[in-house]
Amino acid sequence: MKISGAVALITGANGGIASHFIEQLLGLGVAKIYVCARSVTKLNPLLELDRDRIIPVELDVTNPQSVLTAASQCQDVNLLINNAGTSLNQGLIAASDIDSARNEMEVNYFGMLSMCRAFAPILKQNGGGTIVNILSLLGKVNLPFSGSYSASKAAAISMTQGVRAELAVQNTLVVAVMPGTVDTELAKEWPNPKVAPAEVASSALQAVIDGVEDVYPGEQAAQVSAQLLTDPKGVEKYMASFLPGMMLAGTNA
Ligand SMILES: NC(=O)c1ccc[n+]([C@@H]2O[C@H](COP(=O)([O-])OP(=O)(O)OC[C@H]3O[C@@H](n4cnc5c(N)ncnc54)[C@H](OP(=O)(O)O)[C@@H]3O)[C@@H](O)[C@H]2O)c1
Repeated sequence: MKISGAVALITGANGGIASHFIEQLLGLGVAKIYVCARSVTKLNPLLELDRDRIIPVELDVTNPQSVLTAASQCQDVNLLINNAGTSLNQGLIAASDIDSARNEMEVNYFGMLSMCRAFAPILKQNGGGTIVNILSLLGKVNLPFSGSYSASKAAAISMTQGVRAELAVQNTLVVAVMPGTVDTELAKEWPNPKVAPAEVASSALQAVIDGVEDVYPGEQAAQVSAQLLTDPKGVEKYMASFLPGMMLAGTNA
């Protein structure tokens, strides 16, 4: 779809990747961007970019009422970017309880699903439009030091495929974005290599323009996703060598 003239909405707008999406969307000529965050005061620096086209919206994707209120306020959206996510860096067994696993599932899976459900009729009424789901390469393979994050992203990848199938009839493009490690706050303790957040945003927006469904931004994601096709067991075993409790390679190992 054409981004020039589109009306976009992005969740987790105060995050590291989101700020690049917002800058690039403005550069590509969007008519308006609803920038959504749990705390709108965190959005103040972003508003300076373009006070006419950037509209702040309070939104917690895990709160059904908050999602419904945002949907009722943003009826003209035709490009939904589900970017909000959390990673609590816990092992599946090493975690002291399962609260972090539930929390990641609430944000990364149920939160994203709630947004798709709330905005599907809006996209339909606006001609079909596009949903961009920010997923992760870690949904394709489990990284044990953040095993429950991987599981939540795996659920979200499957959900994205299902939503894509259901919304094909209304002409909605559903793009799955699966980067490897991105250089943001969320991954500050993760090992290198890390892709620049600007590259994640530009690859995702290019996919929207070109109508591409699955995107693996950066060299790490491109290589590992190709390797998963030829040697899935080898990739699993390699990832298994990063154990719970290991963060930056070579420091806490
Ligand atoms: N960084 C990576 O290595 C990496 C790799 C692959 C995929 N991703 C995905 O990329 C997306 C963006 O992450 P990032 O790297 O930019 O991290 P980030 O800077 O931590 O941004 C995450 C954003 O999500 C928001 N958020 C968390 N829970 C929320 C909720 N319940 N409702 C609404 N917003 C919520 C956060 O808001 P608060 O400030 O309120 O917490 C923050 O704005 C995430 O989905 C992440 O899983 C990241």
